[in-house]
Amino acid sequence: MPEVHEDIKEVLISADEIQDKISDLAKQISEEYRDKDLLLVGVLKGAFVFMADLARQVELPIEFDFMAVSSYGTATKTSGVVRILKDLDYEITNRHVLLVEDIIDSGLTISYLLRYLQARGPASLEICSLFWKKGEQAVPLEVKFPGFEIPPVFVVGYGLDYAEKYRNLPYIGVVKDEAYRAEGT
Ligand code: IMP
Ligand code: MG
Repeated sequence: MPEVHEDIKEVLISADEIQDKISDLAKQISEEYRDKDLLLVGVLKGAFVFMADLARQVELPIEFDFMAVSSYGTATKTSGVVRILKDLDYEITNRHVLLVEDIIDSGLTISYLLRYLQARGPASLEICSLFWKKGEQAVPLEVKFPGFEIPPVFVVGYGLDYAEKYRNLPYIGVVKDEAYRAEGT
């Protein structure tokens, strides 16, 4: 068992649990999109770790694209105002698009992206999010491929950051209060 990072007070979901869930999700996705051509759209930066692991378990030919967005807000809460930092490289008209997100909290970021992409006329548009703070959504949201439901706490690891740190942890966990304080000074 590798050591837990010194700034982490509690591991919420282990690396093994995450990998098991990804196998499940990849199976569902391979079924759903059999005989269709699938475009995975990752939401940067957070989703890059999940997308890489997920895609390698999906047994279909896949193409990839990425969007980068930044949500205005505090360090740990988004305001719902989303800025597109990088748009898609390719057209999605008549294509089957699966949006790959790391985590859904208020749901405002993903709702914005859904509206933005829907306007381009994809053949289908669905969401796969590894983590989901269910019950926190400001607007109803249909997540076709949900991973873990987690409590409404701020987590880091597996692509998720606090002030750009901890994205490379293979598990997700909660940061110690001291680590937040050190950052704020
Ligand atoms: P939402 O718009 O409130 O659903 O927030 C979505 C975005 O906020 C995610 O794509 C993450 O980048 C970030 N976020 C939400 N919750 C967390 C968390 O617990 N840890 C790290 N980032 C988070
Ligand atoms: Mg994100």
